[in-house]
Amino acid sequence: MSVFVDNLLRGKVAFVTGGGSGIGRGIALRLAKQGAKVALLGRTAEKLEAVVKEIQAAGGEARAFPADVRKYPDVEQALKSTVEAFGGLDIVINSAAGNFLAPAATLSANGFRTVIDIDLCGTFNTCRAAFEQLSKHGGSIVSITATQAEVPTPLQCHAGAAKAGIEKLTRDLALEWARSGIRVNAVAPGPIEDTEGMSRLAPGDVQANFKKRVPLGRYGTIDEVCEAVLFLVSPAGAYVTGATLLIDGGTSLLGAGPFLDMMG
Ligand code: HXC
Ligand code: NAP
Repeated sequence: MSVFVDNLLRGKVAFVTGGGSGIGRGIALRLAKQGAKVALLGRTAEKLEAVVKEIQAAGGEARAFPADVRKYPDVEQALKSTVEAFGGLDIVINSAAGNFLAPAATLSANGFRTVIDIDLCGTFNTCRAAFEQLSKHGGSIVSITATQAEVPTPLQCHAGAAKAGIEKLTRDLALEWARSGIRVNAVAPGPIEDTEGMSRLAPGDVQANFKKRVPLGRYGTIDEVCEAVLFLVSPAGAYVTGATLLIDGGTSLLGAGPFLDMMG
């Protein structure tokens, strides 16, 4: 149930990486509900097609473009196909990411590089490939980061570095692209229930303790992340650029506190 009125995004075209599952799927559905035509990118065609069907069943328009965000030419082609299919591009959401728990002392160089490559380079690839089209009539980019960018987090040096890089990239692109009419922002969720991310990072036995240590006393929901994204891409966010909006129930106010449970 959104606090926003419907059809805020009628006539807009949105491109969502990682749109086949979890938070990216939720954002894709929410943007479609607000009237946007939605293109989805991820590696697994079946996951994307399932979301396309959900959007179409609700009366919306969507297309799937299976690709890996690490491969620039493939991302560029997916964006080109989006513009051909829907006639333009207005909104880009970077939600594709890879993550796992790993102590820095044993994480391989390739493990570190892989997460930087998917999260940070994948986000740059998508923003860069979208620039020309977005600059034609102005547009909005929102990247999904994480509180690991702000707070030192055990077993998360790879994801933390990648997400911090995205937040810095967000501010740099916001400044460089402001005169092209492109707003660039980030949303940094804390722990969000019913997601792949939390099942990877906080297995069952850690969850009860973790929840108690969140100042608001619970995990967030995918819907709550979607509301923040919708604010940023809608006319309500028209004067916001270069911002990172924390949607974390206050978790980051405690520093590394809640995350120390992950160390066992
Ligand atoms: C240590 C690991 C590892 C693990 C992989 N690697 N998993 N190292 N612990 N659990 C290492 C591998 O050994 C390898 O290094 C390198 O990473 C690349 O692994 P591949 O399997 O070849 O990579 P790839 O197939 O590209 O898969 C990427 C992936 C995978 C990140 C490893 O898990 C993935 O595709 N995930 C996508 C879905 C996902 O992660 N969703 C969660 C996002 S949530 P070597 O040296 O052996 O070659 C999220 C939560 C945020 O970000 C925060 C919540 C608070
Ligand atoms: P998720 O369901 O696993 O979403 C990640 C998506 O990215 C998947 O659909 C995955 O699909 C896609 N993806 C992964 N690697 C890709 C690649 N190389 N190219 C293209 N697509 C790729 O996890 P989630 O928990 O919802 O996370 C979504 C976003 O929120 C991520 O950016 C994550 O870091 C962020 N976040 C999540 C939480 C949380 O509590 N869950 C908290 C903070 C931040 P394929 O595997 O099919 O490609």
